[in-house]
Amino acid sequence: MRVLTALLLLLLLAHGGAEARREGRGRRERTRGRRKANTVKRFTASCKEYTEGGEKFLDCQDRRLTAVLLGWPEDIEHLLLARNRIQALQDNTFSHFRNLRSLDLQQNEISLIEEGAFSGLSKLTTLLLQHNQLQVLTEAMLIPMPGLTYLRLHDNPWKCGCQLDSLVRFLQVPSNRYMGTYAKCVEPTGQRGQKLKTLDAKFLCSDRMEVQHILPQPPGIQKQPDATSLCHTYVFPKPLLDCKGRELKTIPTDIPASIVKMDLSFNSITQLMPKEFVAVKDLKLLNLSSNGLERIDTAAFAGLLYLRELDLSNNSLHYFNYGVLEDLYYLRMLSLGGNPWICDYNIHYLIYWLKHHPAVDYTGLVCSEPEEFRGWPVENYVKTYNAECPKDKQLGQQMGTGTTSQELIAETDEEPNLLPSPLRKKPDKFEIFRLS
Ligand SMILES: *[C@@H]1O[C@H](CO)[C@@H](O)[C@H](O)[C@H]1NC(C)=O
Ligand SMILES: *[C@@H]1O[C@H](CO)[C@@H](O)[C@H](O)[C@H]1NC(C)=O
Repeated sequence: MRVLTALLLLLLLAHGGAEARREGRGRRERTRGRRKANTVKRFTASCKEYTEGGEKFLDCQDRRLTAVLLGWPEDIEHLLLARNRIQALQDNTFSHFRNLRSLDLQQNEISLIEEGAFSGLSKLTTLLLQHNQLQVLTEAMLIPMPGLTYLRLHDNPWKCGCQLDSLVRFLQVPSNRYMGTYAKCVEPTGQRGQKLKTLDAKFLCSDRMEVQHILPQPPGIQKQPDATSLCHTYVFPKPLLDCKGRELKTIPTDIPASIVKMDLSFNSITQLMPKEFVAVKDLKLLNLSSNGLERIDTAAFAGLLYLRELDLSNNSLHYFNYGVLEDLYYLRMLSLGGNPWICDYNIHYLIYWLKHHPAVDYTGLVCSEPEEFRGWPVENYVKTYNAECPKDKQLGQQMGTGTTSQELIAETDEEPNLLPSPLRKKPDKFEIFRLS
């Protein structure tokens, strides 16, 4: 078998050599064709092709690619090339992907895009170029893509001078509101941190820009870290903001509104302020694990109506302020392990809330203090607390008349103690809530 393979190889080599020596043009083309076919097999094998929601994806992320290779399937609708080593995009790089609707080129090393690089992409709606090395681009590059709606350009070292004039003017057209939103100038120094969207375009090609150099920068412009330059954003399969382990002390500003998952784990965020997440209304997963969190403001999670998973594990939380969880209507998973929960009256709000949201799957709610309850599930601690108060039990029995269900009696006999003080004074209100 091996001998045969060797023989075949030799034959092929000899043949190829003979062909190369010939001058005939057609012959050479054919040889090239064969080489191309080999490339096809090798590279489609290393990229992942799949169909999701009836749409065709080619996932070539993290492949150390330096170029777009020939032979990739041409009927794909989404091409994922994030985290490769592409430095330049030549004319017609993508022209055979006629069906392409999104193209993810983020986190490469792109510093040059030729004007015709995207020609042929007439169906493209999403183009991601964030986290690259681009300094200048012109509007001409965008002309082949009339349907383009989403264009990400942030975290590139934009040089805000005359060469950027046409792009900046294009981005500032009101109908292009989802394009280049978070991109900022790095040069000239006088414009550093200015958004391309809001830059005064008429100075780009004038000397005034130079004059502005000298003006001192207003203090305090960069006081909070901003999400788009510090963290990585991904669009597939879900819009994710990955801020894991970035040494953050506060929640970053400028979080893109479209984000659905946010990973803030392994930072140093010790407290959450009011309304930290109101701008990210679609958030479904928020991961704040391993931060040393000590305090969460009552309004910290305000507006997170669609949050389904909240990971607060491995922090320094003792209890939840009354009301912290009130906006989280659709929460399904709550990870609470690895926190020093203190089993005293303050913890009752959490148990009360969990009782009223039975669909929430929670983990890790264990007392660490006081000594006598250490290692107890917090629910068990709350039960003993209630058992010690026979007076409340009598009250509960009085409230539950013969016609109400056993369940209500059972609930009411526990509830007066579970209720945090502001509600405890109004038993009527709480009863209506239970029945509905
Ligand atoms: C949150 O992040 C930690 C560490 O990065 C990870 O182990 C955990 O699974 C994440 N939680 C969720 C709910 O995704
Ligand atoms: C818990 O968080 C600390 C930092 O606050 C980190 O050093 C440690 O690795 C984390 N432990 C786990 C199990 O994630």
